[in-house]
Amino acid sequence: MDWDEQKALIAATCGHPLNERYPVRASYQEAFVKRLMQLLKDHEELHDDLFSSLTSQKCEQQDKDFAYKHYLLLQPDAHITLRESISFVNEGTTGLCTWEAALALADYLMQHSDVVKGKNIVELGAGTGLIGILLKLPELGFDAGQILLTDGSASCVQLMRDNVALNFPKTPKEATPQCEQLRWDEVQDFPWQQYAKTDLVLAADVIYDDSQFDALLDALDHLFTSRGNCLEMLLASTVRNVDTLHKFMEQLTNREYKVTPCANVSACVSHFCRDHTAAVQIISIKR
Ligand SMILES: C[S@@+](CC[C@H](N)C(=O)[O-])C[C@H]1O[C@@H](n2cnc3c(N)ncnc32)[C@H](O)[C@@H]1O
Repeated sequence: MDWDEQKALIAATCGHPLNERYPVRASYQEAFVKRLMQLLKDHEELHDDLFSSLTSQKCEQQDKDFAYKHYLLLQPDAHITLRESISFVNEGTTGLCTWEAALALADYLMQHSDVVKGKNIVELGAGTGLIGILLKLPELGFDAGQILLTDGSASCVQLMRDNVALNFPKTPKEATPQCEQLRWDEVQDFPWQQYAKTDLVLAADVIYDDSQFDALLDALDHLFTSRGNCLEMLLASTVRNVDTLHKFMEQLTNREYKVTPCANVSACVSHFCRDHTAAVQIISIKR
């Protein structure tokens, strides 16, 4: 790489205006620049911007528990910026960072936009809010109906609201995803009448704790029954423990749901820099 190419690379990554305003995790940026320096070690000259991006990042990161991630969706040109926890578990919840299953579901929806067109959507356990933000980005033309992002954790709901505000600074509130606290065992008490009738339920990485299965299934029963079963759910799960997933599938069958596996997402093009070593299963649930 010549001098100008090094400058351009740093400008498009560490020096990107999104990263300057909303910096990614300092340790990630440091690892990236150090790796770049290692790859360029035989070059006579390393551009000054490489060194300055290392030092500036170190000084800037004030929030030790949270950092930003940017997903640049190139065709069409759009991007999502999410503030996320840098730890998998924070404030007693796993939902303050985005998990592989949500990224895989996002990729799946990018390739199957017909699934969401015109639909009023509720997401359960929505975490950082990635899916709802994606579906409302005007550049992507999903043309989804009302989107209600829910989570049982108050911290997640606050983070989702912050992320929605970050990604839709000028959009009228009614055209952005709504974010509300909803614990699955309190689904009956939720003010559903204030929202459009649900056509599609989404959930990613919510099948990991079997003590929550009854609450989740009761919540599904409530949603399906209230819509006379004219409803579909798409559930994305990282395959960590086959027995846990199997147990949930059995309980779905016992409650007379019909489960159909969706296309293989490991094979589909990823817009979200997923770790393809973690297998993610996406299923359609109907009754
Ligand atoms: C592993 S995180 C997944 C977050 C997000 N869907 C993703 O894939 O990035 C699981 C999410 O489910 C939520 N959750 C777990 N149990 C819940 C319950 N009983 N009621 C509502 N939300 C719950 C957690 O707060 C958390 O946000």
